[in-house]
Amino acid sequence: MKIAVLPGDGIGTEIVAEAVKVLEVLDLKFEMESALVGGAAYEAHGHPLPEATLKLAKEADAVLFGAVGDWKYDKLDRPLRPEQAILGLRKNLGLFANFRPAICYEQLVGASSLKPELISGLDILIIRELTGDIYFGQPRGRRVATDGHFPGAEEAFDTMRYSRPEVERIAHVAFQAARKRSKRVTSVDKANVLETFQFWKDIVTEVGKEYPDVELDHMYVDNAAMQLVRAPKKFDVVVTGNMFGDILSDEASMLTGSIGMLPSASLNSSNQGLYEPSHGSAPDIAGKGVANPLATILSAAMMLRFSLNQEAAAQRIEAAVQKVLAQGLRTPDIWSEGTTKVGTAQMGDAVVQALK
Ligand code: NAD
Ligand code: IPM
Ligand code: MN
Repeated sequence: MKIAVLPGDGIGTEIVAEAVKVLEVLDLKFEMESALVGGAAYEAHGHPLPEATLKLAKEADAVLFGAVGDWKYDKLDRPLRPEQAILGLRKNLGLFANFRPAICYEQLVGASSLKPELISGLDILIIRELTGDIYFGQPRGRRVATDGHFPGAEEAFDTMRYSRPEVERIAHVAFQAARKRSKRVTSVDKANVLETFQFWKDIVTEVGKEYPDVELDHMYVDNAAMQLVRAPKKFDVVVTGNMFGDILSDEASMLTGSIGMLPSASLNSSNQGLYEPSHGSAPDIAGKGVANPLATILSAAMMLRFSLNQEAAAQRIEAAVQKVLAQGLRTPDIWSEGTTKVGTAQMGDAVVQALK
């Protein structure tokens, strides 16, 4: 088994180093090979996703990814920006199904900005479609408007689109995931305004007929954003498009205490996967040794479970994370009165110790 390790930029290198430490101590039989990606690859090779990095990712059984991006690249032509690396990996590897589980560990109920009773025991799963929608829809670009409110003015445009097979396959993923949980799916859309999402809703409804044992409901995305902070425990599986899923999963991360706690798995149809925290490269705290590595460590656990067939090892990591939280260790993002503040490496070391 081979894992491609792509740390990327900013805190990406710091948090992936901790996840690698954790994987190494498990003493399992796999090989890890690292490569540059994002801004780091642009600096070294002039491209955020060099051929060699893409080849390594394609040939690996799984990819462990940190984060990409930095404000200093915001003026580059879009194809050269760091974010194109993660988008390119998702597209090239066909990683259409993104799992973002928002679980509130009991030790962290006080870390969230929400009242403890709202999030205590929270366990929801956001399933985000990852290779379609306005993220990838063509055409897109800039031009001079020939119609609209200001003909003759400069304008920019993107295209929101989904094909039937794209919606069908993500709907199946959601219903199958719900079968292993509380058997409830909420499909989040904007069908009241957007044709793309009326189409989405119709297809999810059709697919749902094949899963009579799973309860399906539909919610508009604006209401879903509100319900997520009003009564988050009412959700079980949430399935939605690429852009709404991006936004709602960041929102849901605060239900777990911090964005530094939300792991993710992005899978293709042969269960090859890319595993990354849901957050970004956090340039505001990069290099300070304070980033929370737990989302990445928990993503490594998801990698063992989904791509490497090592369920027992995945559970060991998750138990070790709970143990260090029970010991009261906290990076600043989850720190609260009465707990011990630690840095990125100390947190990783503590997970390693807990595993031994
Ligand atoms: P971000 O997720 O990087 O950071 C948002 C806030 O959360 C910041 O205050 C940051 O310090 C904090 N934060 C994030 N991760 C944390 C962690 N592990 N521990 C503690 N605090 C953490 O989002 P942003 O600031 O909007 O974006 C920064 C850069 O990251 C941009 O270039 C963006 O495009 C990129 N980005 C990349 C990915 C990815 O690689 N998949 C995801 C999101 C954003
Ligand atoms: C994420 C990020 C990415 C996205 C960006 C960096 C392309 O925000 O993984 O959530 O929007 O998908
Ligand atoms: Mn995001």
